[in-house]
Amino acid sequence: MTLDIDWVRGQFPAFREASLQGQAFFENAGGSYTCAPVIDRLTRFYHQRKVQPYAPYAASRLGGEEMDEARTRLAAMLGVETDELSFGPSTTQNTYVLAQAFRQMLQPGEAIIVTNQDHEANSGPWRRLAQDGIEIREWKVDPETGLLDPAALDDLLDENVRLVTFPHVSNIVGAINDVAAICARAHAAGAFACVDGVSYAPHGLPDVDALGADIYLFSAYKTFGPHQGVMTIRRALGELLPNQGHHFNAGCLYKRFTPAGPDHAQVAASAGMADYLEALSAHHGGPASGAGAARHAHDLMRAHETALLQPLLDHLAARNDLALIGPRDAALRAPTVAVELGRDPEPVAAALADHAIMAGGGNFYGQRPLEALGIDPARGVLRLSFVHYTSADEVAQLTRALDAVL
Ligand SMILES: Cc1ncc(COP(=O)(O)O)c(C=O)c1O
Repeated sequence: MTLDIDWVRGQFPAFREASLQGQAFFENAGGSYTCAPVIDRLTRFYHQRKVQPYAPYAASRLGGEEMDEARTRLAAMLGVETDELSFGPSTTQNTYVLAQAFRQMLQPGEAIIVTNQDHEANSGPWRRLAQDGIEIREWKVDPETGLLDPAALDDLLDENVRLVTFPHVSNIVGAINDVAAICARAHAAGAFACVDGVSYAPHGLPDVDALGADIYLFSAYKTFGPHQGVMTIRRALGELLPNQGHHFNAGCLYKRFTPAGPDHAQVAASAGMADYLEALSAHHGGPASGAGAARHAHDLMRAHETALLQPLLDHLAARNDLALIGPRDAALRAPTVAVELGRDPEPVAAALADHAIMAGGGNFYGQRPLEALGIDPARGVLRLSFVHYTSADEVAQLTRALDAVL
């Protein structure tokens, strides 16, 4: 079924905002527009429920219920138990806390596998454990393609490896890694798997249970929600890792890796992401709630994005004044497209802004994949990223603007 793009855009107030009219947004991988249900819930929380939650008076009780609702509904959509999902300030802070837990659990000589395809958020915090005698093994990308070869992972796995960390999609390379296959390899070797899903989740929430990830992380502010990091930790690992929260919260799985007090309003507003994805599914004849709605919304988004992405990839691949990074087949990647220009990308992004294209240049905290590809991270790449609310007209506007400025 085709995505009803007018209906979709009607759910995002940014498209009705006068100051944004005519502006085509292509920096979605940095942070997406926010859907109306999230903004409405956030506003309602600040107006009606801005008290300490979980007390017996109505405003407090309703605030707490809404926070619980966010976890319950998003967990169901992701295929995990409610207490296997927790919110933290950002994905970077979530991985940092997780790394402290692994620091306490692992013994010197045990190993963690990291990649050089990841955003720094899922790389640096793990690499720092080398200071405690943990061996860090790097699963390297192919320097020509930027791709990770799952067969090469086998050479790094042995009985000392306790954790394999990798991205579902790199925010530079864009390729979709075969998470289920990689998790299966990690598990077969007796290791846990931690997946950075930040660049995947905005293109459809995954079925985390089917993927087999012990930890799956993404950022709500890039997935039409508020500025929160969403983290799923499967029970077996979450109960094994040392508690990082208050000692009296040790028995509560969703509090064990979120040492700070939660941002009540934003956690509550995150239920708006479920509202939106369920409405999207129902509007297109799919299930109205839960995991079924999440899968239907995922497939709708993916089909729309893939159809818009292929012509853009073809257009970029046909130019000889730039190098397109990552797969040229839209089916193999997310619509997060980095191009190497052989010159500073920031003035090019500025020139695109004169054509009402909102895009950015730089390294996007992906220094490691850029270096692996032989690109100077101090200069970086031009990145063009979109999501399902992007229209074919906007992609056409982008290709015209690229032709004008390059
Ligand atoms: C792939 C990827 N992982 C992790 C992060 C970090 O997310 P956060 O900003 O929530 O810390 C980003 C942010 O750009 C990202 O693109």
